[in-house]
Amino acid sequence: MEHDKITGLSAGFVEMEDRYGVHNYHPLPVVLSKGEGVWLWDVEGRKYLDFLSAYSAVNQGHAHPKIVQALCEQASKLSLTSRAFHNDRLGPYTKFMTEAFGYDRILPMNTGVEASESAVKLARKWGYEVKGVAQNKARVVFAAGNFWGRSIAAISSSTDSNSRKSFGPFVPGFDVIPYNDLAALETICCEPDVVAFMVEPIQGEAGVILPDSGYMKGVREICTRHNVLLIADEVQTGLGRTGAMTCCEHEGVKPDLLVLGKALGGGVYPVSAVLGREDVMITLKPGQHGSTFGGNPLACAVAMASIKVLQDEEQCNNATEMGDIFRHELNKLRSPLVKTVRGKGLLNAIEINPYGDNRTAWDVCIALLENGLLAKQTHKHIIRFAPPLTINKEQILQACSIIQSVIKEEEKFLH
Ligand SMILES: Cc1ncc(COP(=O)(O)O)c(C=O)c1O
Repeated sequence: MEHDKITGLSAGFVEMEDRYGVHNYHPLPVVLSKGEGVWLWDVEGRKYLDFLSAYSAVNQGHAHPKIVQALCEQASKLSLTSRAFHNDRLGPYTKFMTEAFGYDRILPMNTGVEASESAVKLARKWGYEVKGVAQNKARVVFAAGNFWGRSIAAISSSTDSNSRKSFGPFVPGFDVIPYNDLAALETICCEPDVVAFMVEPIQGEAGVILPDSGYMKGVREICTRHNVLLIADEVQTGLGRTGAMTCCEHEGVKPDLLVLGKALGGGVYPVSAVLGREDVMITLKPGQHGSTFGGNPLACAVAMASIKVLQDEEQCNNATEMGDIFRHELNKLRSPLVKTVRGKGLLNAIEINPYGDNRTAWDVCIALLENGLLAKQTHKHIIRFAPPLTINKEQILQACSIIQSVIKEEEKFLH
């Protein structure tokens, strides 16, 4: 941790965390205590534009009044019963979600990794009981650069050595093919034991990697042709982030299983889900899968409010418009530091060229922080920019001007 950057009131909080917490993150040196809309404040009262949105879990903006109201009202009435009993929010939630996304059934979970793993389990079960694969032979295919969390199963499909080192042995039955490679998908799908391909329509953690246009459409066609389930992991790309409710919609693609998380909880509560086709979803029987918190009344109320806010405020359209402005403005930047500006809607990234004496995207993020904008690097040279979808034109232009001046300022480190 960069203790030299932390002073005053913030230092006490950071030292405590440093002393008693596990060091499994490397946060920027800022201690936040308040959020509203696109703004965050630190404990010293400094104000920042949030350009991470908690890794796209706060699409609707911090402390959205309608989401907070749903949270408070439901929490004061009934928050948790477990699935041992029915509750009066789960039924309406399942109807609401399946109608909103056009699926037959929903499996409610809590976090992204749980929902993604649930989709893999569903695919295996469908493979054995519907497709007719021999027991323990099912294979699930992933794309290189995938990220779906930190569980043993999730890292078993990972191609990031840092995520995997010293955590083996890994889950068998997973295959990895290159991202954005339809020929590789076609080849592997010819194998009769392949039951599913799980893929992000844009790879978020890998650094906002956009496949060629038509990729997801091609994926859909190949999966259909080979009776392989298409699982779209839209935990990060979903819920308005790329300018549509799901990123797959841009290519008119309907996955067999759709995995949602993050912004489904409106930034106030962990909520995730798998939506899917009847013949896949009904393979799960009592006792075969579950979670104490999955489908609890609080989660259901929050998720319904979160989706309604996205719809009522037309946040998908705003993401498209603001994203276009963002990329247009940043593309004006002619800097030897900037390799590419890319993205869709409000899921964007700048890739920088290595510069100075080992200066990286981390240093740019520190400078952005000092200038009132919070963003986080992913890998060494990529900075993701993903503000709440409520951002307006004035705020997006303000952000662009901060980013432009910080990049210009960093040029002084060029040799
Ligand atoms: C595409 C994708 N899937 C799954 C996950 C895991 O979500 P969670 O951290 O809520 O478990 C993430 C998290 O960043 C993600 O980006």
